[in-house]
Amino acid sequence: MNICIVGTGYVGLVSGVCFSEVGHNVTCVDQDDKKIAQLIAGRSPIYEPGIEELLVRNQNNERLRFTTNLEGAMEKADIVIIAVGTPAESDGSANLSFIESVAREIGHHLTSYKLVVTKSTVPVGTGQKIKSWIQEQCGKMAFDVASNPEFLREGSAIYDTMHMERAVLGVESEKAKELLIELHQPFDTRLVITDLATAEMSKYAANAFLATKISFINEVANVCEQLDADVTKVAEVMGLDPRIGSAFLGAGIGYGGSCFPKDTQAFIQMGQSAGYALKIVPEVEKVNFEQRKRLVMKAKQAFGLEGLRGKRIAVLGLAFKPNTDDMRAAPARDIIPMLTSLGADVRAYDPIAMQAAISYLPHITFASSWQEATRDADAVIILTDWNEFKELNLQELKNQLASPIVIDGRNLFEPQLMKSHGFYYDSVGRIK
Ligand code: UGA
Repeated sequence: MNICIVGTGYVGLVSGVCFSEVGHNVTCVDQDDKKIAQLIAGRSPIYEPGIEELLVRNQNNERLRFTTNLEGAMEKADIVIIAVGTPAESDGSANLSFIESVAREIGHHLTSYKLVVTKSTVPVGTGQKIKSWIQEQCGKMAFDVASNPEFLREGSAIYDTMHMERAVLGVESEKAKELLIELHQPFDTRLVITDLATAEMSKYAANAFLATKISFINEVANVCEQLDADVTKVAEVMGLDPRIGSAFLGAGIGYGGSCFPKDTQAFIQMGQSAGYALKIVPEVEKVNFEQRKRLVMKAKQAFGLEGLRGKRIAVLGLAFKPNTDDMRAAPARDIIPMLTSLGADVRAYDPIAMQAAISYLPHITFASSWQEATRDADAVIILTDWNEFKELNLQELKNQLASPIVIDGRNLFEPQLMKSHGFYYDSVGRIK
Protein backbone atom coordinates (compact mmCIF):
# COMPACT_ATOMS: atom_id res chain seq x y z
CA MET A 1 0.00 0.00 0.00
CA ASN A 2 1.04 3.61 -0.44
CA ILE A 3 0.95 5.53 2.80
CA CYS A 4 1.55 9.19 3.52
CA ILE A 5 2.22 10.15 7.13
CA VAL A 6 2.04 13.78 8.23
CA GLY A 7 4.18 14.61 11.28
CA THR A 8 7.51 12.95 12.11
CA GLY A 9 7.28 13.03 15.90
CA TYR A 10 7.32 9.85 17.93
CA VAL A 11 4.12 8.40 16.57
CA GLY A 12 4.55 9.46 12.94
CA LEU A 13 8.18 8.46 12.62
CA VAL A 14 7.89 5.11 14.37
CA SER A 15 4.78 4.24 12.36
CA GLY A 16 6.56 5.32 9.18
CA VAL A 17 9.64 3.17 9.68
CA CYS A 18 7.59 0.17 10.87
CA PHE A 19 5.01 0.32 8.06
CA SER A 20 7.87 0.46 5.53
CA GLU A 21 9.66 -2.40 7.32
CA VAL A 22 6.63 -4.67 6.79
CA GLY A 23 6.45 -3.82 3.08
CA HIS A 24 4.30 -0.71 2.63
CA ASN A 25 5.54 2.28 0.62
CA VAL A 26 5.69 5.18 3.03
CA THR A 27 6.28 8.89 2.57
CA CYS A 28 6.68 10.89 5.77
CA VAL A 29 5.96 14.62 5.62
CA ASP A 30 7.05 17.34 8.02
CA GLN A 31 7.20 21.10 7.62
CA ASP A 32 10.53 21.23 9.47
CA ASP A 33 13.08 21.03 6.63
CA LYS A 34 16.05 20.54 8.98
CA LYS A 35 14.37 17.51 10.50
CA ILE A 36 13.60 16.11 7.05
CA ALA A 37 17.23 16.58 5.96
CA GLN A 38 18.41 14.81 9.11
CA LEU A 39 16.03 11.90 8.50
CA ILE A 40 17.12 11.58 4.89
CA ALA A 41 20.69 11.35 6.19
CA GLY A 42 19.58 8.37 8.31
CA ARG A 43 19.73 10.15 11.66
CA SER A 44 16.77 10.01 14.00
CA PRO A 45 15.74 13.20 15.82
CA ILE A 46 14.43 11.04 18.68
CA TYR A 47 16.40 8.59 20.79
CA GLU A 48 14.71 5.25 20.29
CA PRO A 49 16.51 1.90 20.31
CA GLY A 50 16.61 0.30 16.83
CA ILE A 51 15.08 3.18 14.90
CA GLU A 52 18.11 4.25 12.85
CA GLU A 53 18.73 0.77 11.49
CA LEU A 54 15.17 0.68 10.12
CA LEU A 55 15.46 4.26 8.92
CA VAL A 56 18.52 3.49 6.81
CA ARG A 57 17.43 0.05 5.59
CA ASN A 58 14.03 1.17 4.35
CA GLN A 59 15.33 4.33 2.69
CA ASN A 60 17.95 2.21 0.90
CA ASN A 61 15.32 -0.18 -0.40
CA GLU A 62 13.19 2.83 -1.38
CA ARG A 63 10.16 1.92 0.69
CA LEU A 64 10.61 4.95 2.96
CA ARG A 65 10.86 8.59 1.88
CA PHE A 66 10.92 11.95 3.65
CA THR A 67 9.72 15.26 2.27
CA THR A 68 8.29 18.66 3.19
CA ASN A 69 5.91 18.51 0.22
CA LEU A 70 2.52 17.24 1.38
CA GLU A 71 0.83 17.66 -1.99
CA GLY A 72 3.40 15.45 -3.75
CA ALA A 73 3.41 12.88 -0.94
CA MET A 74 -0.39 12.58 -1.02
CA GLU A 75 -0.66 12.09 -4.76
CA LYS A 76 -0.24 8.30 -4.87
CA ALA A 77 -1.27 7.58 -1.30
CA ASP A 78 -4.14 5.22 -0.48
CA ILE A 79 -4.07 6.35 3.12
CA VAL A 80 -3.01 9.68 4.64
CA ILE A 81 -2.18 9.42 8.33
CA ILE A 82 -2.26 12.47 10.59
CA ALA A 83 0.31 12.17 13.38
CA VAL A 84 0.97 15.77 14.41
CA GLY A 85 1.12 17.00 18.00
CA THR A 86 -1.80 18.01 20.19
CA PRO A 87 -0.11 20.13 22.88
CA ALA A 88 -1.96 20.87 26.11
CA GLU A 89 -3.70 24.22 26.58
CA SER A 90 -3.34 25.96 29.95
CA ASP A 91 -6.59 24.34 31.14
CA GLY A 92 -5.33 20.87 30.17
CA SER A 93 -7.49 20.49 27.07
CA ALA A 94 -5.86 19.38 23.81
CA ASN A 95 -4.91 22.09 21.33
CA LEU A 96 -6.09 20.99 17.88
CA SER A 97 -4.61 23.80 15.80
CA PHE A 98 -1.95 21.58 14.16
CA ILE A 99 -4.56 18.93 13.39
CA GLU A 100 -6.88 21.53 11.87
CA SER A 101 -4.26 23.07 9.64
CA VAL A 102 -3.08 19.64 8.40
CA ALA A 103 -6.69 18.53 7.77
CA ARG A 104 -7.40 21.70 5.80
CA GLU A 105 -4.21 21.26 3.79
CA ILE A 106 -5.12 17.65 3.04
CA GLY A 107 -8.57 18.83 1.90
CA HIS A 108 -6.98 21.48 -0.26
CA HIS A 109 -4.76 18.95 -2.07
CA LEU A 110 -7.36 16.20 -2.45
CA THR A 111 -7.65 15.16 -6.11
CA SER A 112 -8.77 11.53 -5.67
CA TYR A 113 -10.35 9.37 -2.92
CA LYS A 114 -8.20 9.06 0.20
CA LEU A 115 -8.71 7.54 3.60
CA VAL A 116 -7.57 10.10 6.19
CA VAL A 117 -6.58 8.38 9.44
CA THR A 118 -5.84 10.08 12.75
CA LYS A 119 -3.14 8.50 14.90
CA SER A 120 -2.58 11.50 17.18
CA THR A 121 -4.36 11.30 20.54
CA VAL A 122 -7.37 13.55 20.02
CA PRO A 123 -10.49 14.31 22.07
CA VAL A 124 -13.62 12.39 21.20
CA GLY A 125 -15.38 14.17 18.37
CA THR A 126 -12.21 15.32 16.62
CA GLY A 127 -12.68 12.81 13.78
CA GLN A 128 -15.95 14.52 12.90
CA LYS A 129 -14.25 17.93 13.03
CA ILE A 130 -11.47 16.67 10.76
CA LYS A 131 -14.14 15.53 8.33
CA SER A 132 -15.72 18.98 8.16
CA TRP A 133 -12.33 20.76 7.91
CA ILE A 134 -11.40 18.57 4.93
CA GLN A 135 -14.88 18.92 3.42
CA GLU A 136 -14.72 22.71 3.61
CA GLN A 137 -11.60 22.63 1.43
CA CYS A 138 -12.36 19.88 -1.05
CA GLY A 139 -16.04 20.28 -1.85
CA LYS A 140 -17.51 17.16 -3.44
CA MET A 141 -14.31 15.07 -3.61
CA ALA A 142 -14.85 11.66 -1.93
CA PHE A 143 -12.85 10.74 1.16
CA ASP A 144 -13.26 8.93 4.48
CA VAL A 145 -11.89 9.65 7.91
CA ALA A 146 -10.89 7.02 10.45
CA SER A 147 -9.38 6.87 13.93
CA ASN A 148 -6.50 4.50 14.62
CA PRO A 149 -4.99 5.49 17.99
CA GLU A 150 -1.44 4.52 18.78
CA PHE A 151 -0.48 2.53 21.89
CA LEU A 152 3.32 2.42 21.59
CA ARG A 153 5.60 3.20 24.52
CA GLU A 154 8.66 5.40 24.23
CA GLY A 155 11.85 3.41 24.59
CA SER A 156 10.26 0.27 23.12
CA ALA A 157 8.32 1.96 20.35
CA ILE A 158 9.68 -0.15 17.48
CA TYR A 159 9.05 -3.41 19.32
CA ASP A 160 5.57 -2.27 20.38
CA THR A 161 4.63 -1.39 16.81
CA MET A 162 6.07 -4.52 15.22
CA HIS A 163 4.35 -6.69 17.86
CA MET A 164 1.22 -4.63 18.45
CA GLU A 165 -1.23 -6.38 20.76
CA ARG A 166 -4.28 -4.79 19.19
CA ALA A 167 -5.24 -2.20 16.63
CA VAL A 168 -8.35 -0.09 16.99
CA LEU A 169 -9.97 0.74 13.70
CA GLY A 170 -12.55 3.49 14.16
CA VAL A 171 -14.32 3.67 10.81
CA GLU A 172 -17.48 4.96 9.15
CA SER A 173 -17.52 3.03 5.88
CA GLU A 174 -16.77 -0.43 4.46
CA LYS A 175 -14.08 1.03 2.24
CA ALA A 176 -12.30 2.65 5.20
CA LYS A 177 -12.52 -0.63 7.12
CA GLU A 178 -11.05 -2.63 4.22
CA LEU A 179 -8.17 -0.19 3.75
CA LEU A 180 -7.28 -0.21 7.45
CA ILE A 181 -7.47 -4.00 7.58
CA GLU A 182 -5.07 -4.13 4.62
CA LEU A 183 -2.72 -1.67 6.34
CA HIS A 184 -2.57 -3.92 9.41
CA GLN A 185 -2.49 -7.19 7.48
CA PRO A 186 1.31 -7.68 7.82
CA PHE A 187 1.05 -7.41 11.61
CA ASP A 188 -0.19 -10.46 13.46
CA THR A 189 -2.57 -8.54 15.66
CA ARG A 190 -6.09 -8.43 17.03
CA LEU A 191 -8.28 -5.87 15.26
CA VAL A 192 -11.09 -4.10 17.09
CA ILE A 193 -13.42 -2.47 14.63
CA THR A 194 -15.57 0.32 15.94
CA ASP A 195 -16.92 3.80 15.25
CA LEU A 196 -14.81 6.96 15.36
CA ALA A 197 -15.83 8.22 18.81
CA THR A 198 -15.29 4.84 20.48
CA ALA A 199 -11.84 4.52 18.96
CA GLU A 200 -10.90 8.00 20.17
CA MET A 201 -12.25 7.29 23.65
CA SER A 202 -10.41 3.96 23.96
CA LYS A 203 -7.04 5.70 23.91
CA TYR A 204 -7.90 8.07 26.79
CA ALA A 205 -9.50 5.28 28.80
CA ALA A 206 -6.47 3.00 28.34
CA ASN A 207 -3.95 5.66 29.36
CA ALA A 208 -6.05 6.89 32.29
CA PHE A 209 -6.42 3.30 33.52
CA LEU A 210 -2.66 2.68 33.37
CA ALA A 211 -2.06 5.95 35.23
CA THR A 212 -4.65 4.81 37.80
CA LYS A 213 -2.80 1.53 38.31
CA ILE A 214 0.39 3.46 39.03
CA SER A 215 -1.23 5.86 41.50
CA PHE A 216 -3.08 2.97 43.13
CA ILE A 217 0.09 0.99 43.80
CA ASN A 218 1.80 4.17 45.00
CA GLU A 219 -0.93 4.62 47.60
CA VAL A 220 -0.57 0.97 48.62
CA ALA A 221 3.17 1.65 48.96
CA ASN A 222 2.52 4.61 51.23
CA VAL A 223 0.38 2.48 53.55
CA CYS A 224 3.01 -0.30 53.41
CA GLU A 225 5.55 2.19 54.74
CA GLN A 226 3.33 2.92 57.73
CA LEU A 227 2.76 -0.75 58.49
CA ASP A 228 6.13 -2.34 57.63
CA ALA A 229 4.90 -4.28 54.60
CA ASP A 230 6.68 -4.64 51.26
CA VAL A 231 4.86 -3.19 48.24
CA THR A 232 6.91 -5.13 45.69
CA LYS A 233 5.66 -8.41 47.17
CA VAL A 234 2.12 -7.06 47.46
CA ALA A 235 2.29 -6.09 43.76
CA GLU A 236 3.61 -9.56 42.89
CA VAL A 237 0.68 -11.20 44.66
CA MET A 238 -1.82 -8.85 43.03
CA GLY A 239 -0.26 -9.26 39.60
CA LEU A 240 -0.55 -13.04 39.63
CA ASP A 241 -4.30 -12.62 39.42
CA PRO A 242 -4.90 -12.43 35.65
CA ARG A 243 -7.83 -10.09 36.29
CA ILE A 244 -5.34 -7.56 37.68
CA GLY A 245 -2.15 -8.31 35.73
CA SER A 246 1.38 -7.55 36.88
CA ALA A 247 2.19 -4.63 34.56
CA PHE A 248 2.19 -1.05 35.83
CA LEU A 249 2.25 -2.01 39.48
CA GLY A 250 5.72 -0.59 40.00
CA ALA A 251 5.60 1.84 42.93
CA GLY A 252 7.91 4.84 42.71
CA ILE A 253 7.83 8.57 42.14
CA GLY A 254 4.79 8.58 39.88
CA TYR A 255 4.39 8.66 36.14
CA GLY A 256 5.76 11.30 33.78
CA GLY A 257 6.27 11.61 30.04
CA SER A 258 4.43 13.21 27.20
CA CYS A 259 1.33 11.00 27.45
CA PHE A 260 -0.10 10.15 30.87
CA PRO A 261 0.02 13.64 32.41
CA LYS A 262 -1.35 15.28 29.26
CA ASP A 263 -3.94 12.62 28.46
CA THR A 264 -5.34 12.37 31.99
CA GLN A 265 -5.80 16.15 32.02
CA ALA A 266 -7.40 16.18 28.60
CA PHE A 267 -9.69 13.34 29.71
CA ILE A 268 -10.79 15.36 32.75
CA GLN A 269 -11.48 18.37 30.51
CA MET A 270 -13.32 16.22 28.02
CA GLY A 271 -15.59 14.78 30.71
CA GLN A 272 -16.25 18.21 32.11
CA SER A 273 -17.23 19.73 28.80
CA ALA A 274 -19.38 16.70 28.01
CA GLY A 275 -21.27 17.16 31.28
CA TYR A 276 -19.69 14.44 33.42
CA ALA A 277 -17.06 15.33 36.01
CA LEU A 278 -14.65 12.42 36.37
CA LYS A 279 -13.88 11.62 40.00
CA ILE A 280 -11.12 9.01 39.99
CA VAL A 281 -8.76 10.51 37.43
CA PRO A 282 -8.27 13.89 39.20
CA GLU A 283 -7.29 11.96 42.36
CA VAL A 284 -4.87 9.86 40.31
CA GLU A 285 -3.15 13.08 39.32
CA LYS A 286 -2.98 14.36 42.89
CA VAL A 287 -1.46 11.11 44.17
CA ASN A 288 1.04 11.25 41.34
CA PHE A 289 2.34 14.66 42.38
CA GLU A 290 2.33 13.77 46.10
CA GLN A 291 4.65 10.90 45.28
CA ARG A 292 7.34 13.34 44.10
CA LYS A 293 7.03 15.31 47.33
CA ARG A 294 7.28 12.19 49.47
CA LEU A 295 10.66 11.32 47.96
CA VAL A 296 12.00 14.77 48.83
CA MET A 297 10.69 14.28 52.40
CA LYS A 298 12.58 11.00 52.56
CA ALA A 299 15.79 12.74 51.51
CA LYS A 300 15.20 15.41 54.14
CA GLN A 301 14.50 12.82 56.81
CA ALA A 302 17.78 11.06 56.08
CA PHE A 303 19.63 14.12 57.39
CA GLY A 304 17.38 14.59 60.44
CA LEU A 305 17.55 18.04 61.96
CA GLU A 306 20.41 19.10 59.67
CA GLY A 307 18.05 19.11 56.66
CA LEU A 308 19.26 19.48 53.08
CA ARG A 309 20.81 22.95 53.25
CA GLY A 310 24.33 22.84 51.84
CA LYS A 311 24.20 19.09 51.22
CA ARG A 312 25.71 17.74 48.03
CA ILE A 313 23.12 15.53 46.40
CA ALA A 314 23.90 13.28 43.46
CA VAL A 315 20.83 12.71 41.31
CA LEU A 316 21.00 9.62 39.10
CA GLY A 317 18.51 9.70 36.25
CA LEU A 318 16.67 12.62 34.67
CA ALA A 319 14.58 11.13 31.83
CA PHE A 320 10.98 10.21 32.71
CA LYS A 321 11.88 6.57 32.12
CA PRO A 322 14.83 4.56 30.78
CA ASN A 323 15.77 4.21 27.10
CA THR A 324 14.63 7.70 26.22
CA ASP A 325 16.03 11.22 26.42
CA ASP A 326 12.53 12.61 26.90
CA MET A 327 12.26 15.14 29.72
CA ARG A 328 8.59 15.97 29.20
CA ALA A 329 6.83 15.92 32.60
CA ALA A 330 9.80 13.97 33.99
CA PRO A 331 9.61 13.56 37.79
CA ALA A 332 13.14 15.06 37.91
CA ARG A 333 11.68 18.39 36.80
CA ASP A 334 9.52 18.49 39.93
CA ILE A 335 11.89 16.85 42.39
CA ILE A 336 15.16 18.66 41.61
CA PRO A 337 13.71 22.18 42.10
CA MET A 338 12.22 21.00 45.41
CA LEU A 339 15.69 19.81 46.48
CA THR A 340 17.41 23.04 45.44
CA SER A 341 14.74 25.16 47.13
CA LEU A 342 15.64 23.34 50.37
CA GLY A 343 19.25 24.42 49.86
CA ALA A 344 20.69 21.23 48.33
CA ASP A 345 23.55 21.44 45.87
CA VAL A 346 22.54 19.03 43.08
CA ARG A 347 24.87 17.28 40.69
CA ALA A 348 23.01 15.12 38.18
CA TYR A 349 23.85 12.39 35.72
CA ASP A 350 21.72 10.64 33.11
CA PRO A 351 23.12 8.27 30.45
CA ILE A 352 21.17 9.93 27.60
CA ALA A 353 18.94 12.80 28.70
CA MET A 354 21.42 15.41 29.95
CA GLN A 355 21.41 17.52 26.82
CA ALA A 356 17.62 17.57 26.85
CA ALA A 357 17.57 18.33 30.59
CA ILE A 358 19.83 21.40 30.58
CA SER A 359 17.15 23.87 29.55
CA TYR A 360 14.69 22.58 32.19
CA LEU A 361 17.19 22.47 35.03
CA PRO A 362 19.47 25.47 34.56
CA HIS A 363 20.63 25.80 38.19
CA ILE A 364 22.29 22.45 38.75
CA THR A 365 25.59 20.86 37.78
CA PHE A 366 25.72 18.01 35.28
CA ALA A 367 28.27 15.19 35.59
CA SER A 368 29.58 13.07 32.77
CA SER A 369 29.38 9.77 34.67
CA TRP A 370 27.70 8.34 37.76
CA GLN A 371 31.10 8.30 39.43
CA GLU A 372 31.56 12.02 38.84
CA ALA A 373 28.05 12.75 40.12
CA THR A 374 28.46 10.73 43.31
CA ARG A 375 32.06 11.69 44.21
CA ASP A 376 32.03 13.11 47.77
CA ALA A 377 28.25 13.48 47.66
CA ASP A 378 26.31 13.47 50.93
CA ALA A 379 23.53 11.36 49.39
CA VAL A 380 22.38 9.77 46.14
CA ILE A 381 18.83 10.07 44.86
CA ILE A 382 17.75 7.71 42.07
CA LEU A 383 15.04 9.06 39.78
CA THR A 384 15.18 6.85 36.64
CA ASP A 385 15.43 3.06 36.47
CA TRP A 386 18.21 2.86 33.88
CA ASN A 387 19.96 -0.53 33.72
CA GLU A 388 23.25 1.28 34.31
CA PHE A 389 22.02 2.17 37.80
CA LYS A 390 20.56 -1.27 38.52
CA GLU A 391 24.03 -2.67 37.82
CA LEU A 392 25.96 -0.19 39.98
CA ASN A 393 28.91 -1.65 41.85
CA LEU A 394 27.67 -1.00 45.37
CA GLN A 395 31.10 -1.09 46.99
CA GLU A 396 32.41 1.42 44.46
CA LEU A 397 29.33 3.60 45.07
CA LYS A 398 29.92 3.53 48.82
CA ASN A 399 33.57 4.45 48.40
CA GLN A 400 32.58 7.43 46.27
CA LEU A 401 30.20 8.93 48.80
CA ALA A 402 30.96 11.22 51.72
CA SER A 403 28.03 9.59 53.56
CA PRO A 404 26.41 6.33 52.44
CA ILE A 405 22.85 7.55 51.95
CA VAL A 406 20.78 6.25 49.03
CA ILE A 407 17.22 7.44 48.44
CA ASP A 408 15.79 5.28 45.70
CA GLY A 409 12.67 6.50 43.89
CA ARG A 410 12.57 3.40 41.68
CA ASN A 411 13.13 0.49 44.09
CA LEU A 412 16.21 -0.72 42.22
CA PHE A 413 17.88 -2.56 45.13
CA GLU A 414 16.96 -5.00 47.84
CA PRO A 415 16.78 -3.14 51.16
CA GLN A 416 18.54 -6.04 52.97
CA LEU A 417 21.42 -6.02 50.51
CA MET A 418 21.85 -2.26 50.87
CA LYS A 419 21.84 -2.59 54.63
CA SER A 420 24.48 -5.32 54.51
CA HIS A 421 26.68 -2.96 52.47
CA GLY A 422 26.30 -0.37 55.20
CA PHE A 423 24.01 2.05 53.36
CA TYR A 424 21.20 4.12 54.83
CA TYR A 425 18.69 3.11 52.16
CA ASP A 426 15.18 4.43 51.76
CA SER A 427 12.94 3.47 48.85
CA VAL A 428 9.21 3.38 48.11
CA GLY A 429 6.83 1.16 50.09
CA ARG A 430 9.43 -1.20 51.51
CA ILE A 431 10.80 -1.98 54.91
CA LYS A 432 13.59 0.51 55.68
C1 UGA B 1 2.35 5.43 27.55
C2 UGA B 1 1.57 4.11 27.39
O1 UGA B 1 2.22 3.07 28.11
C3 UGA B 1 1.48 3.73 25.92
O2 UGA B 1 0.66 2.57 25.78
C4 UGA B 1 0.83 4.89 25.14
O3 UGA B 1 0.76 4.62 23.75
C5 UGA B 1 1.68 6.14 25.33
O4 UGA B 1 1.73 6.44 26.75
C6 UGA B 1 1.05 7.25 24.56
O5 UGA B 1 -0.06 7.68 24.92
O6 UGA B 1 1.57 7.65 23.51
P1 UGA B 1 4.95 6.11 27.63
O7 UGA B 1 4.48 7.44 28.10
O8 UGA B 1 5.94 6.04 26.53
O9 UGA B 1 3.69 5.21 27.13
O10 UGA B 1 5.63 5.38 28.85
P2 UGA B 1 5.24 4.25 29.92
O11 UGA B 1 6.16 3.11 29.74
O12 UGA B 1 3.81 3.97 29.90
O13 UGA B 1 5.63 4.98 31.28
C7 UGA B 1 4.97 6.16 31.70
C8 UGA B 1 5.43 6.56 33.07
O14 UGA B 1 4.90 5.69 34.08
C9 UGA B 1 6.94 6.58 33.28
O15 UGA B 1 7.29 7.75 33.97
C10 UGA B 1 7.20 5.34 34.13
O16 UGA B 1 8.34 5.47 34.96
C11 UGA B 1 5.94 5.30 34.97
N1 UGA B 1 5.62 3.95 35.49
C12 UGA B 1 5.33 2.93 34.64
C13 UGA B 1 5.62 3.73 36.87
O17 UGA B 1 5.87 4.65 37.68
N2 UGA B 1 5.30 2.48 37.33
C14 UGA B 1 4.99 1.46 36.50
O18 UGA B 1 4.72 0.35 37.00
C15 UGA B 1 5.02 1.69 35.12
